[in-house]
Amino acid sequence: MPLADIIREEIERDGPLPFSRFMELALYHPGLGYYRRGSAVFGREGDFYTNAQLQPVFGRLVAQQIDRWRQELGAPAEFCVVELGAGRGETAEVARRCLPGVRWTAIEMGCPWPDEPVVGVVFSNEFFDALPVDSVERRSGGWVERRVGRRGEGFDWVLGGEVQPRAGLPDCPAGNRIESCERAMEQLERIDRLLQRGFVLSIDYGYTHGEIATAGKFPQGSLMAYKNHRADPDVLLEPGERDITAHVNFTALIERGKELGWETLGFSPQQEFLARAGAGDNFAYALGADTEDAAARLRMQLKTLLFGMGETFRVLLQRKG
Ligand SMILES: C[S@@+](CC[C@H](N)C(=O)[O-])C[C@H]1O[C@@H](n2cnc3c(N)ncnc32)[C@H](O)[C@@H]1O
Repeated sequence: MPLADIIREEIERDGPLPFSRFMELALYHPGLGYYRRGSAVFGREGDFYTNAQLQPVFGRLVAQQIDRWRQELGAPAEFCVVELGAGRGETAEVARRCLPGVRWTAIEMGCPWPDEPVVGVVFSNEFFDALPVDSVERRSGGWVERRVGRRGEGFDWVLGGEVQPRAGLPDCPAGNRIESCERAMEQLERIDRLLQRGFVLSIDYGYTHGEIATAGKFPQGSLMAYKNHRADPDVLLEPGERDITAHVNFTALIERGKELGWETLGFSPQQEFLARAGAGDNFAYALGADTEDAAARLRMQLKTLLFGMGETFRVLLQRKG
């Protein structure tokens, strides 16, 4: 049965769906969801690029930075890295070669998390933007949920009731829309239970509440669908055929981290983070290659990491314990 029919049936049965349920089915329905169909989604043959395709330079720089934090923690024998939403495992593959002896656990949808609390780093690249979110609209008295209903053979937005999202939302004028990220908050709480002591390194694109309030970013919300390297704000089209993302609410991540007792060590553009990671001899190491052609390819990767994705992606570093 096509995924759109499954969603239509669920709407017939339960009424208009929270957007998070629509997004969950569109991306993660077993066998039919965008990330579960087994077809190419990353890179040139897929629908979008991430840092993880810029290997080995990305993996080498991240690994070098993580090794500094390992030293800072006193290089404990049990030090390990847990990577959330590892995708095709490209970063894990490179980083494991750079950090022999360090356990790097790459976790994808449906993989178990380590049973025991860990000391080390919980790392993710474009994990939080792929978590299902709800869509809410600002009203003078509060927030109203936007649900997904049927329209002919397709889907359309339907206003639901008033909601009081648990995750902090930015201050914005009535009529504006934004996403509420309860699932991201749940993941932070899960990370808190997992991480006994160490760092949480989250790389993603996103905004702060201040940017929404003062720069008027995303008046219609930040939901976006991707197919064949094209972005489309109509996220209700072709469920299962396209990626759906929301910009990450970094203020919500930072504030929930503080509530969990974590310290925010840094929040910077990826460019700055990688420049620091490459300090000392690390750029030379990251760009090391056997042939001039290979070296030129690695220099191009670094350029894209610093000046393409480097300006739009951001890096949040939090510390527990
Ligand atoms: C945008 S992709 C990024 C993949 C990879 N980190 C990269 O940069 O190429 C998001 C990934 O997060 C995974 N994901 C989403 N929810 C997850 C969850 N609850 N647990 C583990 N992985 C999840 C998806 O399956 C997908 O592979």
